Amino acid sequence: GHAPARAIRGHLVTITGDPFGPNPAALVEHPDGLLVMQDGLIAAVGPYAETAHRIPPGATVDDHRGRIVSAGFVDAHTHYPQTGIVGAHGAQLIDWLENFTFPAELAFTDPDHAAAVARVFFDTILRAGTTTALSFGTSSPVSVDAFFAESLRRGTRMVAGKVLMDRNAPAGLLDTADAGAAESAELIARWHGTGRNGYAVTPRFAPTSTRAQLDAAGELLRAHPGVLLHTHLCENDAELAWVRELFPEAHGYLDVYDRAGLVGERSVFAHGIHLRTDERARLADAGAAIAHCPSSNLFLGSGLFSLRRAADAGVRVALGTDIGAGTSFSLLRTMASAYEVAHLDGLSLGAAELLYLATLGGARALGLGDRIGSLEVGKEADLVVLDPAATELLAFRSARASSVEELLFVLATLGDDRTTAATYVAGHPAYLRD
Ligand code: GUN
Ligand code: ZN
Repeated sequence: GHAPARAIRGHLVTITGDPFGPNPAALVEHPDGLLVMQDGLIAAVGPYAETAHRIPPGATVDDHRGRIVSAGFVDAHTHYPQTGIVGAHGAQLIDWLENFTFPAELAFTDPDHAAAVARVFFDTILRAGTTTALSFGTSSPVSVDAFFAESLRRGTRMVAGKVLMDRNAPAGLLDTADAGAAESAELIARWHGTGRNGYAVTPRFAPTSTRAQLDAAGELLRAHPGVLLHTHLCENDAELAWVRELFPEAHGYLDVYDRAGLVGERSVFAHGIHLRTDERARLADAGAAIAHCPSSNLFLGSGLFSLRRAADAGVRVALGTDIGAGTSFSLLRTMASAYEVAHLDGLSLGAAELLYLATLGGARALGLGDRIGSLEVGKEADLVVLDPAATELLAFRSARASSVEELLFVLATLGDDRTTAATYVAGHPAYLRD
Protein backbone atom coordinates (compact mmCIF):
# COMPACT_ATOMS: atom_id res chain seq x y z
CA GLY A 1 0.00 0.00 0.00
CA HIS A 2 1.15 3.51 -0.71
CA ALA A 3 0.90 6.20 1.93
CA PRO A 4 -0.69 9.40 0.57
CA ALA A 5 1.86 11.63 -1.09
CA ARG A 6 2.73 15.02 0.26
CA ALA A 7 4.35 18.02 -1.40
CA ILE A 8 5.95 21.21 -0.17
CA ARG A 9 5.89 24.49 -2.03
CA GLY A 10 8.59 26.91 -0.88
CA HIS A 11 12.03 28.39 -1.47
CA LEU A 12 14.10 25.24 -1.99
CA VAL A 13 17.80 25.55 -1.16
CA THR A 14 20.37 22.76 -1.24
CA ILE A 15 23.97 21.91 -1.97
CA THR A 16 24.76 18.73 -3.86
CA GLY A 17 28.58 18.78 -3.82
CA ASP A 18 31.54 19.78 -1.69
CA PRO A 19 32.22 23.55 -1.56
CA PHE A 20 35.65 22.92 0.02
CA GLY A 21 36.96 20.83 -2.89
CA PRO A 22 38.98 21.87 -5.95
CA ASN A 23 35.78 22.51 -7.97
CA PRO A 24 33.71 24.12 -5.23
CA ALA A 25 30.00 23.31 -5.40
CA ALA A 26 27.54 26.20 -5.08
CA LEU A 27 24.05 26.50 -3.62
CA VAL A 28 21.14 25.39 -5.81
CA GLU A 29 17.85 27.23 -5.28
CA HIS A 30 14.31 27.24 -6.58
CA PRO A 31 12.74 30.44 -5.16
CA ASP A 32 9.24 29.16 -6.02
CA GLY A 33 9.97 25.47 -5.82
CA LEU A 34 8.09 22.25 -5.30
CA LEU A 35 9.22 19.06 -3.63
CA VAL A 36 7.04 15.94 -3.91
CA MET A 37 7.43 13.20 -1.32
CA GLN A 38 6.23 9.61 -1.69
CA ASP A 39 6.90 6.59 0.51
CA GLY A 40 9.43 8.51 2.58
CA LEU A 41 11.52 9.59 -0.39
CA ILE A 42 11.85 12.69 -2.55
CA ALA A 43 9.92 11.84 -5.73
CA ALA A 44 10.29 15.15 -7.55
CA VAL A 45 12.03 18.46 -6.99
CA GLY A 46 12.20 21.61 -9.13
CA PRO A 47 10.59 24.93 -9.99
CA TYR A 48 6.87 24.90 -9.12
CA ALA A 49 5.80 25.75 -12.65
CA GLU A 50 7.71 22.78 -14.09
CA THR A 51 6.97 20.30 -11.30
CA ALA A 52 3.32 20.90 -10.35
CA HIS A 53 2.15 18.22 -12.76
CA ARG A 54 4.04 15.68 -10.62
CA ILE A 55 1.70 16.24 -7.64
CA PRO A 56 -0.24 12.97 -7.37
CA PRO A 57 -4.05 13.23 -7.16
CA GLY A 58 -5.15 13.53 -3.54
CA ALA A 59 -1.73 14.68 -2.30
CA THR A 60 -1.48 17.30 0.44
CA VAL A 61 0.49 20.41 -0.59
CA ASP A 62 2.00 22.30 2.34
CA ASP A 63 2.35 25.96 1.40
CA HIS A 64 5.68 27.28 2.73
CA ARG A 65 6.11 30.00 0.12
CA GLY A 66 8.54 32.64 1.39
CA ARG A 67 10.27 30.08 3.62
CA ILE A 68 13.53 28.21 3.05
CA VAL A 69 13.14 24.46 2.52
CA SER A 70 16.41 22.58 3.10
CA ALA A 71 17.56 19.04 3.76
CA GLY A 72 17.23 18.40 7.49
CA PHE A 73 20.27 19.22 9.60
CA VAL A 74 22.79 16.53 10.53
CA ASP A 75 24.39 16.73 13.98
CA ALA A 76 27.61 14.74 13.55
CA HIS A 77 28.47 14.56 17.25
CA THR A 78 26.26 14.73 20.31
CA HIS A 79 25.49 12.99 23.62
CA TYR A 80 21.75 12.58 24.20
CA PRO A 81 22.34 11.43 27.84
CA GLN A 82 23.86 14.85 28.58
CA THR A 83 20.66 16.75 27.73
CA GLY A 84 20.18 17.40 31.45
CA ILE A 85 23.64 18.90 32.11
CA VAL A 86 23.89 21.58 29.42
CA GLY A 87 25.42 24.72 30.89
CA ALA A 88 27.41 23.13 33.74
CA HIS A 89 29.59 25.95 35.00
CA GLY A 90 33.27 26.46 35.42
CA ALA A 91 35.25 23.34 34.48
CA GLN A 92 37.44 22.19 31.62
CA LEU A 93 37.11 18.72 30.10
CA ILE A 94 38.55 16.33 32.71
CA ASP A 95 36.91 18.01 35.74
CA TRP A 96 33.69 18.56 33.79
CA LEU A 97 33.53 14.81 33.07
CA GLU A 98 34.11 13.93 36.74
CA ASN A 99 31.88 16.56 38.29
CA PHE A 100 28.90 16.64 35.93
CA THR A 101 29.00 14.08 33.13
CA PHE A 102 29.77 10.80 34.86
CA PRO A 103 27.22 11.41 37.67
CA ALA A 104 24.53 12.17 35.07
CA GLU A 105 25.38 9.11 32.97
CA LEU A 106 25.13 6.77 36.00
CA ALA A 107 21.34 7.19 35.93
CA PHE A 108 20.88 5.56 32.50
CA THR A 109 20.70 2.01 33.83
CA ASP A 110 17.05 2.93 34.58
CA PRO A 111 14.98 2.38 31.41
CA ASP A 112 12.32 4.91 32.45
CA HIS A 113 14.90 7.62 32.99
CA ALA A 114 16.62 6.81 29.67
CA ALA A 115 13.29 6.85 27.80
CA ALA A 116 12.28 10.17 29.37
CA VAL A 117 15.56 11.87 28.43
CA ALA A 118 15.41 10.38 24.91
CA ARG A 119 11.91 11.89 24.45
CA VAL A 120 13.11 15.34 25.51
CA PHE A 121 16.16 15.02 23.24
CA PHE A 122 14.13 14.05 20.16
CA ASP A 123 11.55 16.79 20.80
CA THR A 124 14.37 19.31 21.09
CA ILE A 125 16.40 18.34 18.03
CA LEU A 126 13.34 18.08 15.77
CA ARG A 127 12.29 21.54 16.93
CA ALA A 128 15.77 22.72 15.93
CA GLY A 129 15.45 21.15 12.47
CA THR A 130 17.87 18.28 13.07
CA THR A 131 16.71 15.04 11.49
CA THR A 132 19.84 12.90 11.90
CA ALA A 133 22.29 12.75 14.79
CA LEU A 134 25.33 10.65 15.64
CA SER A 135 24.99 10.31 19.40
CA PHE A 136 26.85 8.73 22.25
CA GLY A 137 24.82 6.63 24.65
CA THR A 138 26.23 5.82 28.06
CA SER A 139 28.08 2.61 28.95
CA SER A 140 24.71 1.06 29.82
CA PRO A 141 23.03 -0.80 26.91
CA VAL A 142 19.75 0.44 28.42
CA SER A 143 20.62 3.94 27.22
CA VAL A 144 21.04 2.73 23.63
CA ASP A 145 17.83 0.69 23.64
CA ALA A 146 15.91 3.78 24.81
CA PHE A 147 17.45 6.00 22.14
CA PHE A 148 16.85 3.63 19.23
CA ALA A 149 13.33 2.77 20.42
CA GLU A 150 12.48 6.48 20.42
CA SER A 151 14.02 6.86 16.95
CA LEU A 152 12.02 3.88 15.65
CA ARG A 153 8.81 5.48 16.97
CA ARG A 154 9.64 8.75 15.22
CA GLY A 155 10.89 7.18 11.99
CA THR A 156 14.18 9.07 12.13
CA ARG A 157 17.56 8.09 10.69
CA MET A 158 19.86 8.02 13.72
CA VAL A 159 23.25 6.55 14.58
CA ALA A 160 24.34 5.77 18.15
CA GLY A 161 26.26 3.34 20.29
CA LYS A 162 27.08 2.13 23.76
CA VAL A 163 30.07 3.80 25.35
CA LEU A 164 33.05 1.50 25.81
CA MET A 165 34.91 2.48 28.98
CA ASP A 166 36.96 0.04 31.04
CA ARG A 167 39.14 2.35 33.15
CA ASN A 168 39.49 5.83 34.69
CA ALA A 169 35.82 6.38 35.45
CA PRO A 170 33.46 5.55 38.36
CA ALA A 171 33.00 1.79 38.89
CA GLY A 172 29.31 2.04 38.06
CA LEU A 173 30.16 3.18 34.53
CA LEU A 174 32.92 0.71 33.73
CA ASP A 175 32.60 -2.33 31.50
CA THR A 176 35.42 -4.69 30.51
CA ALA A 177 36.98 -5.25 27.10
CA ASP A 178 35.09 -8.54 26.69
CA ALA A 179 31.75 -7.50 28.21
CA GLY A 180 31.73 -4.19 26.34
CA ALA A 181 32.37 -5.94 23.03
CA ALA A 182 29.68 -8.56 23.73
CA GLU A 183 27.13 -5.88 24.66
CA SER A 184 28.02 -3.91 21.53
CA ALA A 185 27.57 -7.00 19.33
CA GLU A 186 24.13 -7.62 20.87
CA LEU A 187 23.11 -4.01 20.25
CA ILE A 188 24.35 -4.22 16.64
CA ALA A 189 22.23 -7.34 16.11
CA ARG A 190 19.17 -5.66 17.69
CA TRP A 191 19.40 -2.19 16.19
CA HIS A 192 21.74 -1.82 13.20
CA GLY A 193 19.37 -1.65 10.23
CA THR A 194 16.25 -1.76 12.43
CA GLY A 195 14.03 0.96 11.01
CA ARG A 196 16.42 3.70 9.94
CA ASN A 197 18.82 3.18 12.85
CA GLY A 198 22.52 2.50 12.49
CA TYR A 199 25.18 1.57 15.03
CA ALA A 200 28.46 3.24 15.95
CA VAL A 201 31.13 1.45 17.98
CA THR A 202 31.80 4.09 20.64
CA PRO A 203 34.93 3.99 22.80
CA ARG A 204 34.56 7.17 24.90
CA PHE A 205 38.16 8.37 24.33
CA ALA A 206 41.63 6.89 24.72
CA PRO A 207 42.03 7.67 28.46
CA THR A 208 39.00 5.58 29.50
CA SER A 209 39.88 2.48 27.47
CA THR A 210 42.68 -0.05 27.84
CA ARG A 211 44.57 -1.14 24.74
CA ALA A 212 42.67 -4.42 24.98
CA GLN A 213 39.37 -2.56 24.74
CA LEU A 214 40.46 -0.44 21.78
CA ASP A 215 41.63 -3.61 20.03
CA ALA A 216 38.25 -5.20 20.73
CA ALA A 217 36.58 -2.13 19.18
CA GLY A 218 38.70 -2.66 16.06
CA GLU A 219 37.59 -6.29 15.91
CA LEU A 220 33.94 -5.21 16.13
CA LEU A 221 34.46 -2.88 13.17
CA ARG A 222 36.03 -5.62 11.09
CA ALA A 223 33.23 -8.04 11.98
CA HIS A 224 30.46 -5.51 11.13
CA PRO A 225 31.53 -3.55 8.02
CA GLY A 226 28.46 -1.24 8.00
CA VAL A 227 28.90 0.24 11.47
CA LEU A 228 30.69 3.50 12.30
CA LEU A 229 33.49 4.26 14.76
CA HIS A 230 32.69 7.27 16.96
CA THR A 231 35.01 8.75 19.57
CA HIS A 232 36.78 11.91 20.78
CA LEU A 233 40.22 13.08 19.60
CA CYS A 234 42.62 15.89 20.55
CA GLU A 235 40.13 18.05 22.45
CA ASN A 236 42.00 19.42 25.47
CA ASP A 237 45.65 19.97 26.43
CA ALA A 238 45.42 18.05 29.73
CA GLU A 239 43.76 15.20 27.87
CA LEU A 240 46.66 15.07 25.38
CA ALA A 241 49.22 14.93 28.19
CA TRP A 242 47.23 12.12 29.84
CA VAL A 243 47.12 10.14 26.58
CA ARG A 244 50.92 10.50 26.20
CA GLU A 245 51.34 9.11 29.71
CA LEU A 246 48.89 6.21 29.23
CA PHE A 247 50.13 5.22 25.74
CA PRO A 248 53.89 6.01 25.72
CA GLU A 249 54.46 3.61 22.79
CA ALA A 250 52.15 5.55 20.43
CA HIS A 251 53.31 8.35 18.14
CA GLY A 252 50.61 10.72 19.32
CA TYR A 253 46.88 10.63 20.05
CA LEU A 254 45.60 9.57 16.60
CA ASP A 255 48.15 6.75 16.51
CA VAL A 256 46.58 5.25 19.65
CA TYR A 257 43.40 4.72 17.61
CA ASP A 258 45.28 3.80 14.44
CA ARG A 259 47.15 0.94 16.15
CA ALA A 260 43.76 -0.55 17.09
CA GLY A 261 42.41 -0.31 13.53
CA LEU A 262 40.01 2.52 14.39
CA VAL A 263 41.01 5.03 11.71
CA GLY A 264 39.11 4.57 8.44
CA GLU A 265 36.48 6.07 6.18
CA ARG A 266 33.69 5.12 8.60
CA SER A 267 35.36 6.86 11.56
CA VAL A 268 34.05 10.09 13.07
CA PHE A 269 36.34 11.88 15.53
CA ALA A 270 34.90 14.71 17.60
CA HIS A 271 36.98 17.92 18.04
CA GLY A 272 40.48 17.40 16.58
CA ILE A 273 41.56 20.79 17.91
CA HIS A 274 45.15 19.91 18.77
CA LEU A 275 46.07 17.82 15.72
CA ARG A 276 49.56 17.82 14.24
CA THR A 277 50.15 18.25 10.51
CA ASP A 278 50.99 14.57 10.06
CA GLU A 279 47.81 13.60 11.92
CA ARG A 280 45.68 15.74 9.59
CA ALA A 281 47.38 14.07 6.63
CA ARG A 282 46.65 10.63 8.09
CA LEU A 283 42.96 11.52 8.63
CA ALA A 284 42.68 12.77 5.06
CA ASP A 285 44.41 9.68 3.70
CA ALA A 286 42.13 7.37 5.68
CA GLY A 287 38.98 9.28 4.65
CA ALA A 288 38.05 9.76 8.30
CA ALA A 289 35.92 12.72 9.38
CA ILE A 290 36.22 15.35 12.09
CA ALA A 291 33.07 16.53 13.82
CA HIS A 292 33.81 20.19 14.53
CA CYS A 293 32.04 21.24 17.74
CA PRO A 294 32.65 24.98 18.09
CA SER A 295 30.18 25.81 20.86
CA SER A 296 31.54 22.99 23.01
CA ASN A 297 35.15 23.95 22.29
CA LEU A 298 34.42 27.49 23.44
CA PHE A 299 32.30 26.48 26.44
CA LEU A 300 34.86 24.03 27.90
CA GLY A 301 37.74 26.34 26.98
CA SER A 302 39.22 23.56 24.86
CA GLY A 303 40.57 25.72 22.06
CA LEU A 304 39.93 26.81 18.49
CA PHE A 305 39.65 24.15 15.79
CA SER A 306 41.28 25.16 12.52
CA LEU A 307 38.77 24.33 9.83
CA ARG A 308 41.12 26.09 7.43
CA ARG A 309 43.99 23.68 8.09
CA ALA A 310 41.68 20.67 8.06
CA ALA A 311 40.08 21.69 4.75
CA ASP A 312 43.49 22.49 3.22
CA ALA A 313 44.72 19.03 4.22
CA GLY A 314 41.65 17.43 2.62
CA VAL A 315 40.12 16.20 5.88
CA ARG A 316 36.36 15.69 5.75
CA VAL A 317 34.63 17.94 8.28
CA ALA A 318 31.10 18.01 9.68
CA LEU A 319 29.43 19.94 12.51
CA GLY A 320 28.51 18.67 15.96
CA THR A 321 26.60 20.30 18.80
CA ASP A 322 28.36 18.07 21.37
CA ILE A 323 25.50 18.44 23.85
CA GLY A 324 26.00 18.73 26.90
CA ALA A 325 29.42 20.41 26.58
CA GLY A 326 27.99 22.30 23.63
CA THR A 327 25.59 25.10 24.42
CA SER A 328 22.96 24.79 21.70
CA PHE A 329 20.99 22.00 20.03
CA SER A 330 20.61 24.21 16.96
CA LEU A 331 22.78 23.62 13.88
CA LEU A 332 22.01 27.25 12.91
CA ARG A 333 23.65 28.40 16.15
CA THR A 334 26.49 25.92 15.52
CA MET A 335 26.99 27.32 11.99
CA ALA A 336 27.31 30.80 13.51
CA SER A 337 29.91 29.57 16.01
CA ALA A 338 31.81 27.78 13.23
CA TYR A 339 31.83 30.99 11.21
CA GLU A 340 33.19 33.02 14.14
CA VAL A 341 35.92 30.53 15.02
CA ALA A 342 37.05 30.12 11.39
CA HIS A 343 37.00 33.89 10.91
CA LEU A 344 39.48 34.32 13.79
CA ASP A 345 41.70 31.90 11.86
CA GLY A 346 41.56 33.82 8.58
CA LEU A 347 38.83 31.78 6.89
CA SER A 348 35.51 33.48 6.10
CA LEU A 349 32.98 30.69 5.60
CA GLY A 350 30.14 31.49 3.21
CA ALA A 351 26.55 30.30 3.21
CA ALA A 352 27.30 27.40 0.85
CA GLU A 353 30.06 26.09 3.10
CA LEU A 354 27.98 26.49 6.25
CA LEU A 355 24.95 24.75 4.76
CA TYR A 356 27.19 21.95 3.47
CA LEU A 357 28.72 21.41 6.90
CA ALA A 358 25.26 21.19 8.48
CA THR A 359 23.68 18.93 5.83
CA LEU A 360 25.51 16.98 3.09
CA GLY A 361 28.91 17.22 4.80
CA GLY A 362 27.42 15.68 7.94
CA ALA A 363 25.62 13.03 5.91
CA ARG A 364 28.86 12.07 4.15
CA ALA A 365 30.80 11.98 7.42
CA LEU A 366 28.24 9.44 8.67
CA GLY A 367 28.44 7.36 5.46
CA LEU A 368 24.91 8.47 4.55
CA GLY A 369 25.66 10.81 1.65
CA ASP A 370 23.68 8.66 -0.77
CA ARG A 371 20.54 8.74 1.40
CA ILE A 372 20.23 12.14 3.07
CA GLY A 373 21.78 15.62 3.16
CA SER A 374 20.45 17.26 -0.01
CA LEU A 375 17.24 17.81 -1.97
CA GLU A 376 17.63 15.22 -4.71
CA VAL A 377 15.21 12.73 -6.22
CA GLY A 378 15.55 9.34 -4.54
CA LYS A 379 16.94 10.70 -1.29
CA GLU A 380 15.00 10.34 1.94
CA ALA A 381 12.53 13.16 2.59
CA ASP A 382 14.02 14.57 5.81
CA LEU A 383 13.59 18.35 5.65
CA VAL A 384 13.63 21.56 7.62
CA VAL A 385 11.54 24.62 6.78
CA LEU A 386 13.12 27.87 7.99
CA ASP A 387 11.02 30.99 8.46
CA PRO A 388 12.88 34.23 7.60
CA ALA A 389 10.11 36.11 9.43
CA ALA A 390 10.27 34.00 12.61
CA THR A 391 10.95 36.98 14.83
CA GLU A 392 10.38 40.70 14.34
CA LEU A 393 14.12 41.28 14.00
CA LEU A 394 14.59 38.41 11.53
CA ALA A 395 11.74 39.71 9.39
CA PHE A 396 13.23 43.21 9.42
CA ARG A 397 16.72 41.96 8.55
CA SER A 398 15.70 39.25 6.06
CA ALA A 399 13.68 41.73 4.03
CA ARG A 400 17.00 43.47 3.31
CA ALA A 401 18.79 40.34 2.04
CA SER A 402 19.47 40.53 -1.69
CA SER A 403 20.55 36.92 -2.34
CA VAL A 404 19.83 33.49 -0.96
CA GLU A 405 23.43 33.38 0.33
CA GLU A 406 22.84 36.54 2.35
CA LEU A 407 19.49 35.25 3.59
CA LEU A 408 20.99 31.94 4.76
CA PHE A 409 23.87 33.72 6.45
CA VAL A 410 21.43 35.99 8.30
CA LEU A 411 19.40 32.93 9.35
CA ALA A 412 22.57 31.34 10.71
CA THR A 413 23.52 34.53 12.53
CA LEU A 414 20.16 35.43 14.06
CA GLY A 415 18.33 32.11 13.89
CA ASP A 416 17.68 29.36 16.42
CA ASP A 417 14.90 26.85 17.07
CA ARG A 418 12.28 29.61 16.73
CA THR A 419 13.32 29.80 13.07
CA THR A 420 12.06 26.24 12.39
CA ALA A 421 8.55 26.45 10.94
CA ALA A 422 8.38 22.72 10.30
CA THR A 423 10.53 19.58 10.28
CA TYR A 424 9.69 16.61 8.08
CA VAL A 425 10.87 13.07 8.71
CA ALA A 426 10.53 10.51 5.90
CA GLY A 427 7.99 12.70 4.14
CA HIS A 428 5.78 13.51 7.13
CA PRO A 429 5.65 16.45 9.51
CA ALA A 430 7.53 15.58 12.71
CA TYR A 431 7.42 19.11 14.12
CA LEU A 432 5.10 22.01 13.30
CA ARG A 433 5.68 25.32 15.04
CA ASP A 434 2.14 26.65 14.80
N1 GUN B 1 35.80 13.37 26.00
C1 GUN B 1 35.46 12.21 26.64
N2 GUN B 1 34.16 12.21 26.97
C2 GUN B 1 33.65 13.38 26.56
C3 GUN B 1 32.34 13.96 26.63
O1 GUN B 1 31.39 13.39 27.15
N3 GUN B 1 32.22 15.21 26.09
C4 GUN B 1 33.26 15.85 25.49
N4 GUN B 1 33.04 17.06 24.98
N5 GUN B 1 34.49 15.34 25.44
C5 GUN B 1 34.68 14.11 25.96
ZN1 ZN C 1 31.50 14.76 22.82
